[in-house]
Amino acid sequence: MTRGAVALLATLNLLACGAAVEPSKGSTGSDGSPPAAARAGAGAPGIGDPHFPLDGNGGYDVAHYALEIGYVPASKHLDGEATIRATATQPLSRFNLDLHGFKVSEVTVDGAAARFSRDGDELSVTPAKPLAQGAEFAVRVAYSGEPQPVRGSSNLGTYGFIPTKDGAFVTAEPNGARTWFPANDHPADKATFDFKITVPRGVTALANGELLSRKPAAGGGTTFTWRESNPMVTYLATATLGKFRLREGKTAGGIPNLAATDPRYAGALDKLYERSGEITDHWVKVFGPYPFGSTGGVIDDFSAGYALENQTKPMYGGFEPDESIIAHELAHQWFGNSVSIKRWKDLWLNEGFATYAEWLWAEHRGDSTAEQRFRTALNRAADDAIWSYPPGDTRPDDLFHESVYLRGAMTLHALRQEIGDDTFFKLLRTWAAEHEHGNATTDQFTALAERLSGKQLGSLFDAWLFQPRRPAV
Ligand code: ARG
Ligand code: ZN
Repeated sequence: MTRGAVALLATLNLLACGAAVEPSKGSTGSDGSPPAAARAGAGAPGIGDPHFPLDGNGGYDVAHYALEIGYVPASKHLDGEATIRATATQPLSRFNLDLHGFKVSEVTVDGAAARFSRDGDELSVTPAKPLAQGAEFAVRVAYSGEPQPVRGSSNLGTYGFIPTKDGAFVTAEPNGARTWFPANDHPADKATFDFKITVPRGVTALANGELLSRKPAAGGGTTFTWRESNPMVTYLATATLGKFRLREGKTAGGIPNLAATDPRYAGALDKLYERSGEITDHWVKVFGPYPFGSTGGVIDDFSAGYALENQTKPMYGGFEPDESIIAHELAHQWFGNSVSIKRWKDLWLNEGFATYAEWLWAEHRGDSTAEQRFRTALNRAADDAIWSYPPGDTRPDDLFHESVYLRGAMTLHALRQEIGDDTFFKLLRTWAAEHEHGNATTDQFTALAERLSGKQLGSLFDAWLFQPRRPAV
């Protein structure tokens, strides 16, 4: 939707609730102001990211998603019940969730039936009683239908909950969480997750975090209960379903490790398990303590054309990952998953760092140095697209442009040259530690780099991140 349309929508929301919450005589607070509930308005339909104006929502902050999902691969039917615990950050007469497709049968807020309406991906919920600012509440949404992944939107490929022959391939970056559960679907609002997933017998459900139980379901099939007890952005949530070979254990460093492959990739299971463990342990030495309860990886039989760093379980779509990609997706566990972006324009904080990690891995293996990779990239022709696309300000229509990855990594290398190895690696560890399980911005990164190095780095970052031309080196 266009910006104009968003502004109009916001205006309509204001008008609609302005009429509904006109304080009546005698309902004023003791100081003469209307009580919180009477001042309540509608939460904004977007969280405030100019790149994706309707992603996420305003007026509340989610603490926890409890998702109960039943899925039958043969019919592609999903039955869902989501209970979302949140805190109102303003008085709310109503608020939105993001949900794509499905039929919603019931919504309750704190156990009481709530009115709801749909408009595109916006699910608007009007609780029976307005919510006061600071109020903690639980919204429960019952929904069902055939999941509709997002297909071929610009150059993002297909993403979200993607039905496959034996289950589903679930990778949702940037905004496909809404294709399988109602969400505040933007990385700025992280929350913990519980998953209770019921599938037919013989199907395995792989969600984030750790498996709490696996039990026969009342009506047949199996129920898998997974818990991600560390905050997670919505696009990293997964409920990947299908026939899988599993290998479980611990890394040499003691981190629980789970690898899973579609039977077609059974031959790659041991390698995936071993490399994932080895690389996770190595990143602990370079980036600091592992931020989550387990590591691993999943190879599924769906050619997505990309991998995704799903929290604790990176997903490889229809290919056997080499060490470089495993190093990339596991580096994201620190950069992107634990330290998450607040706005999509800062995506280089994820992809530039993970790409630089590929260079660090090659350096560690003695294959090529980061300096060599940097030089090779620098030799790209003057009209190469990475020079005209500044990686510090992504384009919403071309979010995952090569520049965000490659020129993002080059930015880090240029910084390393400027501040030296000791300060550079201290910076990476401090960045991961100071923002562990949080959200951060490019400005915060550049400020930290200046603080730790004692240098003015404004022109370096400006040339590498924000200018539409090749930086002078
Ligand atoms: N973050 C992923 C990676 O760097 C890329 C995700 C691309 N998403 C998409 N819908 N194409 O490996
Ligand atoms: Zn990446």
